[in-house]
Amino acid sequence: MSASPSSVRALRSLACGALAGTVRVPGDKSISHRALMLGALAVGETTIDGLLEGDDVRHTAAAMEALGATVLRPAAGDAGGLWRVRGVGVGGLAEPAQVLDMGNSGTAARLLIGVVASHPITAFFTGDASLNNRPMARVTAPLERMGATFLGRKGGRLPLAVIGTDHPVPIEYRLPVASAQVKSAIILAGLNTPGITTVIETHPTRDHSELMLRHFGAAVNTEPLAGGALAVSITGQPELTGRPVKVPADPSSAAFPMVAALLRPGSDVTLTGVGMNPRRTGLYETLREMGGDITFLNERIEAGEPVADLRVRGSALRGVDVPPERAPSMIDEYPVLAMAAACAEGTTRMFGLAELRVKESDRLAMVADGLTACGVACEAGSEHLFVRGTGRPPRGGGLIATAMDHRIAMSFLVLGTASVEPVTVDDGAFIDTSFPGFVDLMNGLGARIAAAE
Ligand code: S3P
Repeated sequence: MSASPSSVRALRSLACGALAGTVRVPGDKSISHRALMLGALAVGETTIDGLLEGDDVRHTAAAMEALGATVLRPAAGDAGGLWRVRGVGVGGLAEPAQVLDMGNSGTAARLLIGVVASHPITAFFTGDASLNNRPMARVTAPLERMGATFLGRKGGRLPLAVIGTDHPVPIEYRLPVASAQVKSAIILAGLNTPGITTVIETHPTRDHSELMLRHFGAAVNTEPLAGGALAVSITGQPELTGRPVKVPADPSSAAFPMVAALLRPGSDVTLTGVGMNPRRTGLYETLREMGGDITFLNERIEAGEPVADLRVRGSALRGVDVPPERAPSMIDEYPVLAMAAACAEGTTRMFGLAELRVKESDRLAMVADGLTACGVACEAGSEHLFVRGTGRPPRGGGLIATAMDHRIAMSFLVLGTASVEPVTVDDGAFIDTSFPGFVDLMNGLGARIAAAE
């Protein structure tokens, strides 16, 4: 399998009229990774309905096969059909004969490093240039305390050898950064560790691992502590049982057509079956504070996760302050929020953004540089981003460097829908990591995005 999408594909987005229609964006990336991993660790068969068939998740599927699970993909021509996973049971993973290539995906790499750490096997992890540049010490440091050994590049970066332990010890660990990936890596290592493994998070992050572990039969306890902190504990060595999983549409992908619809006057777009997990809804809250007309319809629970249909209408937006404590609930949405801010009237001030510097790219820098190239006034600090909108369409016209980052590419293509001059991104190929079909879906609603010559 290649380490990354192979062909560079420059894309250009032109100003368009009102967007209209009803669409479903692809499945949630976080939940899709976890469904494949827990399916591989369960006894019996797990069926997954609505799995994200993006490059990141395909890397996880291939890795779970390399670790001994059976992964049955839908038949050719049955895109969107059920995936089936036959697991090996907790503790049953086999040593992979080849290097595990996690492509562009930090979630796949960090969570699987946790899983492998408490199995008595050795596995070698690598990724593409973006992933191999991302910090891994945040997971290897606590996992070393559980007994695993690591040999990686400077800062623990990939390529990385993980020598799992056959005598894992449970730990209690306070997260130094608000990160669901780090929390999940430790909890997943705790799965095959006797006793109780506990992670304390000061700022609650997405809880898909906890919800899905319970769905598969593990005992996971969440206890509130003073000051809003949470202690998340797992009792080790449960038997997980294969389960049906239904994956909601990804709120982080819905964010792109949502913001585009808000920016085009007269738009009326409905996004169906979108995840409404309260640890993921910070963007909706912020856009509504900015004056965005977003209504939640048919709110319901599907396979343990809240979902709703979101109706979005074109709106005049105004700048707001976004407090730092909201960051974990919208961490992937700041790039597209910055595009909304560029078209709003007044300044939007976003705080608590240090983690954006270690995503698929340095998103603070990429957003600030791209907005500047499009004639938008902004200021980026080590942990903040201020964007000054005039309430009129930005000039646009920039050629945007995307640095192998799907969300930077999609965000600036959204800006192009509302700019005076077209916005071009240097490489749209990475969009397939999280949102296959993005260009067709957006154009089906009325956007004008095409290959740039
Ligand atoms: C994810 C957690 C977030 C997010 C990433 C997916 C997950 O990362 O940015 O896209 O699935 O747990 P951090 O937990 O490192 O902030």
